Amino acid sequence: MNGIFYFSSTGNSLYIAEQIKNELGGEIRYIPKFAGDVNTYDKIIIVSPIHSFGLPTLVYNFIINMKSSKPLYIVLNHGGMEAFAPYYAYQLCKKSELNIRSVQAVMMPEIYTLTFSQPKFAINLVLRKAPKRMKSVVEVIRDDKEIVIQKPKKDKWTPKHLENIKKFHLLVKDFKITENCTNCQKCVRICPVGNIRNENGSIVFDDKCVACLSCYHRCPEKAIVYKNKRKKDRYINPNILEKNIGTDQV
Ligand SMILES: Cc1cc2nc3c(=O)[nH]c(=O)nc-3n(C[C@H](O)[C@H](O)[C@H](O)COP(=O)(O)O)c2cc1C
Ligand code: SF4
Ligand code: SF4
Repeated sequence: MNGIFYFSSTGNSLYIAEQIKNELGGEIRYIPKFAGDVNTYDKIIIVSPIHSFGLPTLVYNFIINMKSSKPLYIVLNHGGMEAFAPYYAYQLCKKSELNIRSVQAVMMPEIYTLTFSQPKFAINLVLRKAPKRMKSVVEVIRDDKEIVIQKPKKDKWTPKHLENIKKFHLLVKDFKITENCTNCQKCVRICPVGNIRNENGSIVFDDKCVACLSCYHRCPEKAIVYKNKRKKDRYINPNILEKNIGTDQV
């Protein structure tokens, strides 16, 4: 059986995981909560967003702690700038002595939109194109086609990624909770690293943020704002059920 492991803040990666499950079958597992053995699956498929030209912290940790010789397939998704993330992921798997067969990338709507807004037509266009791209992604996995990711001539992105992830925990210093907060505590429940607490009726952030932006996009009141901007646009993939983000489908 296929084990489809995913990390997702706004559902783009979950959408991809669900497409793979629909076509190839298998169980969908949410990486931050997975405590089992990946070797119970015949094929291991990891679906992840790209964060700052590389892997999200939790996906990186998952890969380096994996011990397996099962065929491994990675499907990354990004908002238009994959940079050298596929090569970075491929190399990481090689260094971890994993049986990496392919790393593929799919463009999805950008969610790092703290300082700018994506026009709706651009989001819809990307969403409309995704199913076609998913067809070829699924074929590569189904047929076990090997894709060797060649070393780029000059890897200018990986150093930037390594620099940026060191600063991820600082993001919440620029988050503010506005008067619109109803103290529903959804952000406390969905933060993948338990970085948000309710303290005497107020929402407070700790210092282990991994900059996933789940809380920012999924607060029902848009009460989490960045640098005091009152931007109203938030994003959740319209082709999944939001309540399924962060859950398994077995
Ligand atoms: C911290 C962070 C960094 C990101 N960095 C990149 C990037 O380097 N290149 C890119 O194209 N998209 C980047 N994105 C956008 C996401 O990769 C993209 O929107 C993805 O589809 C989100 O998937 P999800 O909803 O499953 O989390 C970033 C998003 C976040 C939250
Ligand atoms: S999800 Fe939004 S409204 Fe709910 S507690 Fe968090 S900040 Fe407040
Ligand atoms: S505090 Fe928000 S952005 Fe940071 S890890 Fe938690 S949910 Fe993600």
